[in-house]
Formats: sequence, structure tokens, C-alpha cells
Amino acid sequence: MSDVVTLERKGAIAVVTVNNPPVNALGIAVREGLQQSFKAAEADPDVKAIVLVCEGMTFMAGADIKEFGKPPKEPSLPDVVNGIEAGSKPSVAVIHGTALGGGLEVAVSCHYRIAVKSAKVGLPEVKLGLLPGAGGTQRLPRLVGVAKALDMIVSGNPIGAVEAHDLGVIDELVEGDLTAAGIAFAEKLLAEGKGPRRTGERTDKLDGVDNAAAVAAKRAEIEKKMPGLFSPQRCVSAVEAAFALPLAEGLKRERELFAECLVSPQRAALVHAFFSERQASKINDLPKDTPVRDVKSAAVIGGGTMGVGIAICFANAGIPVKILEISSEARDKALERARDTYGMSVKRGSLTQDALEQRMTLISGVTDYADLSDVDVVVEAVFEDMGVKQKVFEALDANCKPGAILASNTSSLDLNAIAQFTKRPQDVVGLHFFSPANVMRLLEVVRGEKTAKDVLATAMAIGKKLKKVSVPVGVCDGFVGNRMVFQYGRESEFLLEEGGTPEQIDGALRKFGLAMGPFAMRDLSGLDIGLAIRTRQRQTLPAEFKLPVVLDKMAEAGLLGQKTGKGFYVYEKGSRTPLPNPELPAIMEAASKEQGIERRELSDEYIIERTIYALINEGAKILEEGIAQRASDIDVIYLNGYGFPAHQGGPMFYADAVGLDRVYARICEFHEQHGAWWKPAALLEKLAKEGRKFADL
Ligand code: 3HC
Ligand code: NAI
Repeated sequence: MSDVVTLERKGAIAVVTVNNPPVNALGIAVREGLQQSFKAAEADPDVKAIVLVCEGMTFMAGADIKEFGKPPKEPSLPDVVNGIEAGSKPSVAVIHGTALGGGLEVAVSCHYRIAVKSAKVGLPEVKLGLLPGAGGTQRLPRLVGVAKALDMIVSGNPIGAVEAHDLGVIDELVEGDLTAAGIAFAEKLLAEGKGPRRTGERTDKLDGVDNAAAVAAKRAEIEKKMPGLFSPQRCVSAVEAAFALPLAEGLKRERELFAECLVSPQRAALVHAFFSERQASKINDLPKDTPVRDVKSAAVIGGGTMGVGIAICFANAGIPVKILEISSEARDKALERARDTYGMSVKRGSLTQDALEQRMTLISGVTDYADLSDVDVVVEAVFEDMGVKQKVFEALDANCKPGAILASNTSSLDLNAIAQFTKRPQDVVGLHFFSPANVMRLLEVVRGEKTAKDVLATAMAIGKKLKKVSVPVGVCDGFVGNRMVFQYGRESEFLLEEGGTPEQIDGALRKFGLAMGPFAMRDLSGLDIGLAIRTRQRQTLPAEFKLPVVLDKMAEAGLLGQKTGKGFYVYEKGSRTPLPNPELPAIMEAASKEQGIERRELSDEYIIERTIYALINEGAKILEEGIAQRASDIDVIYLNGYGFPAHQGGPMFYADAVGLDRVYARICEFHEQHGAWWKPAALLEKLAKEGRKFADL
């Protein structure tokens, strides 16, 4: 029938097979193939039922995201699914892997659905700034009711086949050969005399239920949890049409709302985020077939905050891991901490006690380097002190087997210097986890001067196994994320000295979309880390790099953040809710006075420019120096490690959206007004003058 969709007849059953690797996305060729195959099966008098099945790792994972923003090609997906549903012969979708977005919309336009137990189904369009645009908002509520459909469509989270079966999305759970299972199910339908059963004609789940109340509740939830997002409220409007309008009109309404989302800047940003994450794992000078070393066992040196979190990541991935500590007491404490961390998941209901026990069998504690002679990878997470790291790496060099990967979790020390403590710098790599390591998705994979290609490839593969978003970065102070966030933190402190308040600055950045503003974040992590950096910088930085003084004044007053109950905000006992700190105005005024600054009103727009443009300028310097491979990698780091809003695409995407000429011009003004920190990156200047974007690089 076509290259990607084939039609075969097995007795009275027509089998339509889609084979469009890697995820059977519904690009134009698949849509054409599906439409032609179903039409041909409909026209063939010997065909009594139709089975739809997919080759490869998954059922259709959705519309082809690469086609968004390009001129539409016929047949459209709505036309294809409406045609399938209208068919006069019973059709059966056989689901494995993930039936997502347009994939699920095709499945629910078939008259019956069967699935393997491991399959997942969902409508994740909202995560791309869209809504289901091929009948999903009209047909899913008819299958599961309005309230459940709203949950699924507005969260975008898929559900497992077993739950989908309980809800009535899936008719039967099957095992074994997919095509054979589909044919057997179709033959049973025919034997029982069952014909088409069109989802679009059903109303039983819509009638007699207070659908309006479900809609109002979801709207209120969105207003509270995701006020700045464009597509969620439109998802609700589309579902509302499912019970307020007849099917044909509901489908039309869905299409109008889908079109609005398609042209929204948030859709472009979210699709950028999706592809950037996948692109980040590709390393320019690393051929796809670079060999990867076997990683079946691991060790972590140092069982503190990070070490335990990292050990948990390995155990969660089914990889046995040893934690090496300085004493048997410290070793036992680390194991206890791992158990307590899992214990919290059990309390929250996200892990069973049995799973906890099973994971703990994978984590053991040791104090002797000789016990590490057989492990495949070691991650060092001891104190951030070069002398301590030197001793650790010398011991690893003396005890680990040849070929073992020796990784450091250092966040600020020179990885190349660490590698020199061993006789095998080619095996040394940075694995920079973020805190809490077992929760945060980001992993900066730090490539040292001498890191071997297969070690780098293996480090990226380890990240994937640990379910991290791994981004390769080069060696510099703070790597990519922390180097940039430092600029942002400093500028936000300067804004306090110029007239802003923590409430206003945090508020402006939250409105921009950040989950947390810089001051609430500072209070959470404690002000001492920033202070230590400041103290070091005062001794080393040339005089033209002015520094804010507000942190020092706060430290003098004992305001160190949540741990002291007071920082930029005050916290009532046992509460994490930030309340205005009455001591702060006097401190800020004293800081302004000391810096010779007259306090003034700051607009939200100005606050965004001063903080986000500081990130962008540093990002451009990082690109210039080759520390990050591409602008989109920087975006991935910011989206996954620093709570940057996905609907803004990341700092570099945001810069492109604002226009580099405008960003550059503002940075030049800041350079004039605020001095050396704002020296524009040469790359930014060049791109701005050439009318290009970071995305063009
Ligand atoms: N369109 C185009 N390419 C897609 C795609 C899609 N819908 N989904 C995945 N891909 C590509 C990826 O970019 C990647 O390409 P690469 O190898 O060149 O980097 C490749 O397929 C494999 O993807 P992953 O690395 O993500 O593979 P995983 O096995 O980790 O995950 C998945 C598979 C769960 C299917 C995941 O890819 C996914 O969630 N995909 C997106 C699903 C989605 O959002 N669907 C809705 C689309 S919008 C829609 O359907 C609109 C409709 O309502 C009209
Ligand atoms: P921590 O102080 O909580 O833990 C360090 C642990 O290492 C302690 O348990 C200590 O007993 C152990 N240790 C010290 N010397 C040792 C040695 N010679 N042999 C074996 N164990 C030894 O420190 P944390 O926060 O876990 O940081 C560890 C490393 O991770 C540092 O390099 C830090 O820069 C890095 N990092 C920290 C992040 C954070 O947010 N805390 C984030 C990312 C990286």
C-alpha cells in the first residue's frame, strides 16, 4: 500500500500495519497510508473486520511533531480518524509501547482496542503547548467521562494499560504476537456478530453527570497552578464542547482551539524544549557507533547529601552500588540516610515497603578501597576540597580495575586537575548531579581535556540508564548551569540595592514563569554558599568587577535563610511559606547607601531584563568558548536544573524570540551603566549585527 503502511488479508480480516521508525509518528506518509488502507479494506467485499497494528518499539506516538509550523498536507489527521470511525466493518487497534496524542486518537476512532499490559496511553499534547486536535477531546470524554478526560488531557500524563482497561479505553489485555492477538479478537467479534461500535456516537458517560462542575473545578485548578500557560484552558474549552455540542460541532470547535494553540509562541517554545532534550544527547565528534563500556556495578565515594542521592539513582536503575565512607559510623549513617530517603517515598505512597527492601539490597557500605576492585564506575562525592579529592583519586587509581570509569561530582573544581591525580586521565569524567540527586533530572557530563571518547559515550549512557537528561559540557568554573546562575544571582542582589524588594523581584520572575524567585531559592539553599563565593571573589577579582554587599550585611544580622528561620523572608516555625522580613528594608537601605546608590522604582520588565539577559550574555560566552556544544543544550540545562519555564523555551531560545539585536542593545546599555560584568559576549555582538539567532549556529 505504501512504504510505511501495508495492508494484508488474513482470511476475512484485513491487517493494516504501520512501520515508520522510530515511533510510528503520524507524518503525511502514514496518514495517506492509513486512509488508503482503510478505504481499500472497506471496499473489499471479502474483508469483514480490520486490525490495525504497529511494528517496532511502539504503537503510534502521535502526530509528527516535525511537521508543526509547516504548511499542512492532506489528508489531515482529523480526516483520517473520522474516516476510520465511520467505517462499516469493525476495526480493532492493537496497542503496544505508547499510544500517545494522535496515536491514541487513531486508536479511539477504531471500534475496539486491545493492548499488552505494559502499554501506556495518553494525550500529552498540552506538554507541547497544544491540545488533542484529532478528536481526542471529543472521544476520550465519551469513553471515560468528562472529569477523568480533563485530568488526562490537562496533565498530559499517560496511564497504564491496566487502568485504561478498567476505565473502558481498552477492551481486552493480551499477550504474545500482536497481529495474531488482533486477528483472534476480530474473529471473536465476527463470531459474536458484533459490528462497529463508534466512540463518537456514545453519550452514556456524558449523560446524568454534573459535567459543568468538573469543568469549573479544572478551570480553577489551572488558574491556580499554571496561570501563565496558553493551552490548558483551551483544553478545557474543547472538552466542554464534547458535552455541550453534537459531535460534528464539537470536532469543529476542537479544531479552532487547536489552530489557536498551533500559532502560539508557547507551542514553539515547548516543541523546542522537546527536540532540544533529544538533541542534547548527541555529541558532535562522537560517532553513533562509539563503543560503550559495560556498567553492571557502581560505587560512590562519600555518603553525604549528594553521595546517597547518587547511590539511590544507581539502585533505582537496578545497578548494585557500594558507598565508601571514611569510617564505619559514617558508612552506617549513609546507609541509614538512603533507607530514610526511600522511607519518605513509602510514606508518600510512591514506593512500596517491598520495593524499598529490594532497592536497599542493591546498596552496600564499605570503608576499604580494596572492595572497589571489581566495580565498573565510581562517582566521587566527597567534600569540595582539592586536597581531599586528590587522596581519593590516588586511591581509586591504585585500587580500581583497568577500564573502570572514574567520575567526579565536583561542582566547582577543575576536572582536568583531578584527572592528573591518576595515571589514567582518559578514564576520568565529570558526572555533575544536581541536588537532590535522586530527584533532579539534570546531569552535566563534564568532558575533561583527556577524557576518552568511549568514556564520554559510556557516561552519557549511564545518564540514560539513571533516567537523567544528560548534557555534555566542558571544563570551566561552574560548568554551564552554575556559571550562568551566578550572573543571575548577582544581578538580583544588585536590584535589591537599586530599589527592588525580594517580594517584587521574586514576583516578577514567577510571573515570567519560574517556579521560584532567586531570593526564595537562596533562602532554601542557605546564604552561606553564596557568601563563601563572594568572599573568595573579593580576594581574586579585578577591582572593576563590583560586588553587591547586601548578603554580607544579612550574614552580620544572622539572616542565613530557612535554616535560621530568617533570610530574605521570615518563616514561621515548621512552615516554608515566605513572609516579608521586617528587618530587611533597613539592611537594603544601608547596602544602597554604602554603594552610593539612590533607591528607585523598578519595573517588572526591567527586573526580567537585568536577570535573564545576564544569563543570556554568559550563555553566549559559554558557546563562544565551546563549553556547551549548542545553544539548545544550554536551554536543556536551564529547563531541567534551574526551573526555567519550558513555555519560554530556555534562556537562549527566549533571547532569539526577543531578538538578539534588542538583547544586545540592552546589554550594551547595562555595560555602560553597570560596568565590567556586562561586557557583551563577542558572539552575541556578531549574531546581533548579522541579524542571526543562536538557533542558526
Ligand atoms: N514526532 C516526531 N518525532 C518524534 C515524535 C513525534 N511525535 N516522538 C518521538 N520522536 C522522535 C524523537 O525526536 C527521537 O528522535 P531522534 O532519535 O532523532 O532524537 C525519537 O523519536 C525517539 O524518541 P525518544 O528519544 O523520546 O524515545 P523514548 O523511547 O525515550 O520515548 C516516546 C518515546 C515516549 C514516544 C517519546 O518520544 C514521546 O513522548 N514522544 C512525544 C509524544 C507526543 O507528544 N505525542 C503527541 C504529539 S502532538 C499530537 O499528536 C497532535 C495531535 O493531537 C493532532
Ligand atoms: P556532604 O558534606 O554532604 O558529604 C560529603 C561526604 O563525603 C561526607 O559524608 C564525608 O564523610 C564524606 N567524605 C569526606 N572525605 C571523604 C573521603 N576521603 N573518603 C570518603 N568519604 C569522604 O557534601 P555534598 O553536599 O554531598 O557534596 C559532595 C560533593 O558533591 C562536592 O564535591 C560538591 O561540590 C558536589 N555537589 C554538591 C551539590 C550540593 O547541592 N550539595 C550539588 C552538586 C555537586
